[in-house]
Formats: sequence, C-alpha cells, structure tokens
Amino acid sequence: MTATAEHGVVSTEPNEEGYREFSLGEFRFRRDEYFVYITWPTGHHIMSVDAFLRALQRDIAWDFFYGTVNFDHSENIQTPRIRETFKSILDDWTNETFDPFASPHETGSAFGIKNGDNHGAVTRQRVQAGRMVGLPGDAPLRSDEAGYLVNRMFADVPQDEPEVYAEPGFEDQVSAFSLFAYLSRSDVTWNPSVASVCKESLFCPTTEEYILPIIHGNDRVEWFIQLTDQITWEVEDRETGAVRARVVMKAGDVSAMPADIRHQGYSPKRSMLLVWENASADLPDLIASGKTPTYPIDF
Ligand code: PHB
Ligand code: FE
Repeated sequence: MTATAEHGVVSTEPNEEGYREFSLGEFRFRRDEYFVYITWPTGHHIMSVDAFLRALQRDIAWDFFYGTVNFDHSENIQTPRIRETFKSILDDWTNETFDPFASPHETGSAFGIKNGDNHGAVTRQRVQAGRMVGLPGDAPLRSDEAGYLVNRMFADVPQDEPEVYAEPGFEDQVSAFSLFAYLSRSDVTWNPSVASVCKESLFCPTTEEYILPIIHGNDRVEWFIQLTDQITWEVEDRETGAVRARVVMKAGDVSAMPADIRHQGYSPKRSMLLVWENASADLPDLIASGKTPTYPIDF
C-alpha cells in the first residue's frame, strides 16, 4: 500500500476484486463483491455495497445538504477534501451495470468484481433553478428530445402544458408549467430538484421509489406535500434515534416534519413528493438557541 495525499487514495493497485481502497483522515474505505468496510481507530462498519453507493450518491449530488452523519470518532476534515474523496470512491466502485440514483427495479447489479464504470450516471447534479423552471436562462423543462422520457409508473400523467399569454414586454417574466408532467419525466429517485426560488422559499419536488438511501437529519422544519401515491415515514429523535412517529402520507396529505428529527421514507410505488423548505442560513442557530421552535406553528 502507498499512501498519497491525492484524494485520499490508499492503494494505487486495485484489490483482488478490482477496486481501489481509500482513506479520509483516519477513516479507511474498502469494498469487495458484496460489502463495504469502513474502519477507523475506534470502530468499524460493514454494509451492503448497493446501499452504500446510493447514500454516497446523494451526499455528493446534494453537496452535504442538511445531512447528519454519526461516528464515535471525530475528526475535522475540510469539505472539499471529503467531496473529492467521495467522488473518487463513487466513481471507482460503481460498475457499468449500476445507477445509484435509479430505483432497484430500473437498474442492474451493484455487486461482483469490477466491471466498467458509469461516469455519466454518477456525475449527475441536482437541478437547481435560480428563479423558476422553464423561465429563460433557467433549468429547461424536461422533454423526449432532451432524453427525459415519461417514467413507466407515470404513463397516465397528462403531458399538456398551460397556455400563457403574457403582455408584450413581459414574455421572459411570466411563465407556467405542469409540475406533474415535469416530475413524470424525472430519471432519478430521492433527489429533490429546486424547481422555484422565491427569496428563502424553495420548492423541492422529487420522485420517490423504494427507500430514501439516507436517514435524513433535519436542522429546520420542512413541509411535505404528498402529490401522488403513498410514502411511509419512520420518524425518530434526531439525537437518540428513539421512535417518535410512523407517518403514512397519501396523495393530498400535508405534514410538517420538525427540526429535531431524523427520518427515512419508504415508497412502494414511484410517487411525487413536494418538499418545501425555508433555506435561511440563520435557522439552525435560531433553533439550537431556542429562539425559534422545532415545530412550525402554534394553533
Ligand atoms: C428530506 O429532506 O427529508 C428529503 C430528502 C430527500 C428526499 C425527500 C425528503 O427525496
Ligand atoms: Fe428531512
């Protein structure tokens, strides 16, 4: 083994199964045909490689957006270094048969010895609008021509767009689009896009199928509007993991997830979920100091 500073690569030679090993500070990452092994001076994890790659993919695509990771060994490492190491691991350990963003039914296997790569899939970014999807200069609507086909589970979603008649001179400011049609063409799961921005208010719609690959720790209240189908949420205390609720959300249901929880969603069919967030950077401190409650509203 040769230790190099470069993106935390430990072994330059692939292991027996064809995969490289990585390090980040005192953490070591290694995979074989089925499992990932993470070791650090005071402990270790073993987990299935498909679950690991799905989680790693979200960390990278969301750029560590509101995540919490718990280890019993703390070490401070600069985010750019973590980001680059994680990107290298994801790229080296993802075979050409596997897309970590896809539902298990729409992708091949993550297992086995090294077999090609899937650069295109693992470098997808979340779509981030600066104003609203479809407005000039911002994220375009998804279409057949752009390679976004209607998902097999959304074949019944109407594809017509609203007609907009803007006053002359306002054509680039007035716009409307069918959010259902837009979402029906999403090629990823559990990856909220930012479809509109109004000051600190972000509309983050997403399509969900199977299991949210991370247990998400909230640092602010988030509103969920279940647009179609059904998701079951297991909700726990963010710090202790004690069970707080099981929330079954059906189409049309709205919930506010508190700021002091962690949660994981289960979607038995591909469903559409709108996550509505206040993106203010002040919120985590306001909540931690007790100036702002962990729940959204007093009735
Ligand atoms: C969340 O912030 O809890 C969250 C993250 C990703 C999703 C849905 C919800 O796809
Ligand atoms: Fe959350």
